[in-house]
Amino acid sequence: MKKVLFAASEGVPFSKTGGLADVVGSLPKCIDREYFDVRVCIPKYMSMKQEYKDRLQYVTHFYMDYNGTSVYVGVLETVLDGVHYYFIDNEHYFGGGKIYTDDALFEIERYAFFSKAVLSMLPLVGFQPNVIHCHDWQTGLIPVYLNERFQGDLFFHGMKTVFTIHNLKFQGKWNPKTVQRITGLDASYFTPDKLEAYKDANLLKGGLVYADAITTVSDTYAEEIKTPFYGEGLDGLLRARKGDLRGIVNGIDFEDFNPATDPHIVQNYTVANFRKEKKKNKRALQEALGLEQDDKKMMLGVVSRLTDQKGFDLIAYVMDELCQDAIQLVVLGTGEERYENMFRHFAWKYSDKVSANIYYSEEMSHRIYAACDAFLMPSLFEPCGLSQLMSLRYGTVPIVRETGGLKDTVQAYNEFEHTGTGFSFTNYNAHEMLNSIRYAERIYYDRKIEWNRIVQRGMEQDFSWQASARKYQEMYDWLIG
Ligand code: ADP
Ligand code: GLC
Repeated sequence: MKKVLFAASEGVPFSKTGGLADVVGSLPKCIDREYFDVRVCIPKYMSMKQEYKDRLQYVTHFYMDYNGTSVYVGVLETVLDGVHYYFIDNEHYFGGGKIYTDDALFEIERYAFFSKAVLSMLPLVGFQPNVIHCHDWQTGLIPVYLNERFQGDLFFHGMKTVFTIHNLKFQGKWNPKTVQRITGLDASYFTPDKLEAYKDANLLKGGLVYADAITTVSDTYAEEIKTPFYGEGLDGLLRARKGDLRGIVNGIDFEDFNPATDPHIVQNYTVANFRKEKKKNKRALQEALGLEQDDKKMMLGVVSRLTDQKGFDLIAYVMDELCQDAIQLVVLGTGEERYENMFRHFAWKYSDKVSANIYYSEEMSHRIYAACDAFLMPSLFEPCGLSQLMSLRYGTVPIVRETGGLKDTVQAYNEFEHTGTGFSFTNYNAHEMLNSIRYAERIYYDRKIEWNRIVQRGMEQDFSWQASARKYQEMYDWLIG
């Protein structure tokens, strides 16, 4: 049996702020259990729901040399849907009310601690993975620590690492002196060919330099990040490692996200009966959110972290124009205050058309995916994007910018060939976006049969994990040899 350990900062259903958690929570379930024992290690956050905390069982604890002292590391575990989870416990680092904090230096301290703790606990819990699969900057030091001290140890000898980039923008950067003190790594690691980038120590870069293989979450993003525009300063390194870098598109959990069985939605439906049944979800949402109640009104949805990555500047720019149209807009999200306030403002100004729900709710997200006619995702960059996949699954037509995974997963509607699953535009330009939305409006209002065929094609797409899980397995096999 080949053994793989996922290490990440969040995972569904225990902790989630975005798509990373969806991937960590759903991909391991889809790896073939006959050949692979895949386990997952995430932090034990205080903010985790009580029902999940209650499931965890104590495994062991130890003290680890870290940041100049000896630090407590607790290890807990549980098994969920056949997947074995380990949790790293330390109240100082993971005791806050939220998963992430705004203190960039503390974030580095917490996740460098996590990275070292993941390696340190392995011999004690008796799990000796052939591959450690690291996700995003928070686990960037795992390949580095493995190279530095653990590789000399027989237990870790020959252990391979994969580093998956879910978002290149977040890198975990601070001045090298401080990071060296915190991590205890030798000064020789803080050079431009290793952890240093533009005078900072960069944890993500550490992962990219030392991992045996690098992946990212769509083919297009794998290409984009080798260019200066998308490369976030690391495009040179990614070009240098292009032979070890590949894109594997994300899937979604087809059981959790299934309109036929979803317990969160008012009316279940399928590809066979969405024409009649789906609108009952719209009606219920209009009522719940105080929007004008009209089955026929085209409802656009946004479910997102409210950051500039997602293209909200474009939306803000044309909001007044858009609100002159016969549409409704339902937003669910939290994040940067300027975007939260922008949506609050328009919800006040156009109260029967716009609903701003500035909070996080799994249930509400499902209700929006089910209720809306179209889903708006005009991202500036998008490594993969899961929201558009969820929308497709729920027969909600995505309107996206052609970048990263959005380009790879949404096929533009072609009215002459009667193909396509959504609407898209190329340039990061507010009126190009508005034109796409208005094109979608015309099809929705004037050519209902065509519209429903777009919906149907979207619902018939297979964005489950099956195909991509196989690609990860092949990569693990290749690495293990
Ligand atoms: P990212 O990882 O960049 O945030 P993705 O599209 O990959 O973008 O994944 C976003 C995930 O987070 C989806 O599962 C989406 O439904 C969920 N999500 C984002 N904001 C919220 C929110 N406010 N409430 C509930 N779910 C949310
Ligand atoms: C990141 C990206 C998103 C991707 C997700 C899961 O948060 O922003 O595009 O879908 O990770 O890989």
